[in-house]
Amino acid sequence: MRMYDIILKKRNGGALSEEEIREMVREYTDGGIPDYQMAAFLMAVYFRGMTDEETAVLTDAMAHSGDTIDLSALPGVKVDKHSTGGVGDKTTMIVAPVVAACGCVIAKMSGRGLGHTGGTVDKLESIPGMQVSLSQEEFLRVATETGIAVTGQSGNLTPADKKLYALRDVTATVESIPLIASSIMSKKLAAGSDCILLDVKTGSGAFMKTAADAVELAQKMVAIGEHNGRRTAALITNMDIPLGRQIGNALEVEEAVRVLRGTGPKDLTEVCLALAAELLCLAGKGTREACLEQARRAIDSGAALERLAAMVKAQGGDERCVYEPERLGRAPYSLEIKAPADGYLTKMDTAGIGIAAMMLGAGRETKESSLDYLAGILLEKKTGDAVRSGETIARLLASEEHRFADAQRQFLQCVTIGPEPPQPEPLVYACVTAGGVEYR
Ligand code: URA
Repeated sequence: MRMYDIILKKRNGGALSEEEIREMVREYTDGGIPDYQMAAFLMAVYFRGMTDEETAVLTDAMAHSGDTIDLSALPGVKVDKHSTGGVGDKTTMIVAPVVAACGCVIAKMSGRGLGHTGGTVDKLESIPGMQVSLSQEEFLRVATETGIAVTGQSGNLTPADKKLYALRDVTATVESIPLIASSIMSKKLAAGSDCILLDVKTGSGAFMKTAADAVELAQKMVAIGEHNGRRTAALITNMDIPLGRQIGNALEVEEAVRVLRGTGPKDLTEVCLALAAELLCLAGKGTREACLEQARRAIDSGAALERLAAMVKAQGGDERCVYEPERLGRAPYSLEIKAPADGYLTKMDTAGIGIAAMMLGAGRETKESSLDYLAGILLEKKTGDAVRSGETIARLLASEEHRFADAQRQFLQCVTIGPEPPQPEPLVYACVTAGGVEYR
């Protein structure tokens, strides 16, 4: 196989054979194909796409490019959830303890922040002592003891995705349906759960900007999961507005805890309940209505909050932060952003707001950047809210005051104020299963 011929074939719109794909993934993982050739291939895929067969083979080759996790020793149904990425998306820290409190085991591999999107692993690391780089033995021990374990993409799990993802991030080739589907599903297949729920985000803060693209991505991922014997479904959820009111690592842990105490923002609570109910349904825990009720009870009874604390403790973290999130600390500097005019907040460029949070230190500008766990944004107003000129619409938080000027300029560019309120958008657009698409 010559990598040159593979690039040429894809550039000209051809379909690759199974053998070509498997050999390419193997050689790239082993260092035999240079990044410049793989980057050219990824760009050809970006423009030419891949057939369903090519995408399925690529996913399988990536899933088996390193170790896989065997969860069969754990009792009960093993479930997993994965979000395609967004701003203020702290759903894993809520949904995982809820479904664990309802009798499922959730042993999950999560990612770090990427570009404008945050990552669960970074958020959890804002809890002092928290270990998110678990060996397979530790991962299984924590999941057995507490019903939840969350680890980063540690060890030798899906090394092909690790390399490809880093390369896509710097070559403008992230937003490709076959590449996203194979990246996410290779990790999910390698992580070994019986049931997989995908939270496919759509809107200005998501990789998929339209609901139609999000549905297409969801259908591809559901087909891959089901083909590999995993019960798989996807919810298409709104990422045109940041989720909740807090963006940033420790800030998002604090807000997740508030949802688990029953005092969190309505949008975040509603999306998390919908995700938890769908995951419980996949796990065979009853009808959607019955599962929604179980999820609500897990929050109301405090059982889900206790699960989160147990997981934090089992992974070496200070579980007191779950009961007293003020222990996470607050950034020493804050800046209020005022509305420039009277009217309604009609639009938020959510990816741009994620970038403002990154500029404050909540995300990485380069792979090497260190994080300020306390930095971030508190949203006082969101799309649809009425605002008066001079009223505070957001507070920026940072540990370094010099970060405010650029972040404030960026934030203000991302909000639009108009005379009329915008049409409200649904939080959940559709549910995609092997049986089809159900619009809500
Ligand atoms: N999340 C992933 O894990 N991979 C992608 O390609 C996009 C989002």
